[in-house]
Amino acid sequence: MRRPFIAGNWKLNQTIAESRELAQQLVANLAGVEDRDIVIAPVFTALSTVAEVIKNSPIQLAAQNCYPQIQGAFTGEVSPLLLQDVGCNYSILGHSERRQLMGETDSFINLKLLKVLETGLLPILCIGETLQEREENRMLEVLTRQIEGGLDTLTAEQMAGVVIAYEPIWAIGTGITATDDQAQDAHSFIRNLIRELFNTEVAAATRILYGGSVKPDNVDGLLAQEDIDGALVGGASLKAEDFTRIVRFES
Ligand code: PGA
Repeated sequence: MRRPFIAGNWKLNQTIAESRELAQQLVANLAGVEDRDIVIAPVFTALSTVAEVIKNSPIQLAAQNCYPQIQGAFTGEVSPLLLQDVGCNYSILGHSERRQLMGETDSFINLKLLKVLETGLLPILCIGETLQEREENRMLEVLTRQIEGGLDTLTAEQMAGVVIAYEPIWAIGTGITATDDQAQDAHSFIRNLIRELFNTEVAAATRILYGGSVKPDNVDGLLAQEDIDGALVGGASLKAEDFTRIVRFES
């Protein structure tokens, strides 16, 4: 019932020329794949080039971040309006690297999310616990805080445009993936939380992606889980062959 959603987060990688080449390979590999959402998130400087390459393909464009203002005296920032202008459909928000390295808080991420929705882009809200939080049995508390904070003041109607990505920080870029059961447990908890905060229909319709060392050899098991609706892929999304196999997951 929920349309699968596979997103590639290219992070701080790839020149414009490399981005163009990777996007061209993906367009060729994924032509005709119409039954799932496919999204790639290049660096800001490559968005325009990649937008051109993926035009008329099933691939959609995401930014990796944005600022919660439309325009003005905000030196060095990029607004949701400008992302839309360059051809983005989505913006990733609250990625753990931004939370950890740039000190982004739930309330700041919430401002971004509201501004993104107001502009007509769709947010991919990232949440996830550290290894220490998991070991101290604080995972559910952390996920609750991130969901409640990130989605604060959102209406059920607005939730229709929101994609959630559960990315346990200990699994990001480490080669350690959450087991199918660990991921399913977290996803089911998040879906229940969304049910409590909104309603049953919203919970049933919200897509929750898993992220953290998703690879061609583990994607099928993860995506076979009831509450896992897709993947947010970092490292493996930089290899056309791997990302293609992930998009073409079989479960
Ligand atoms: P990874 O990154 O697939 O390299 O673990 C995932 C992410 O950070 O979104």
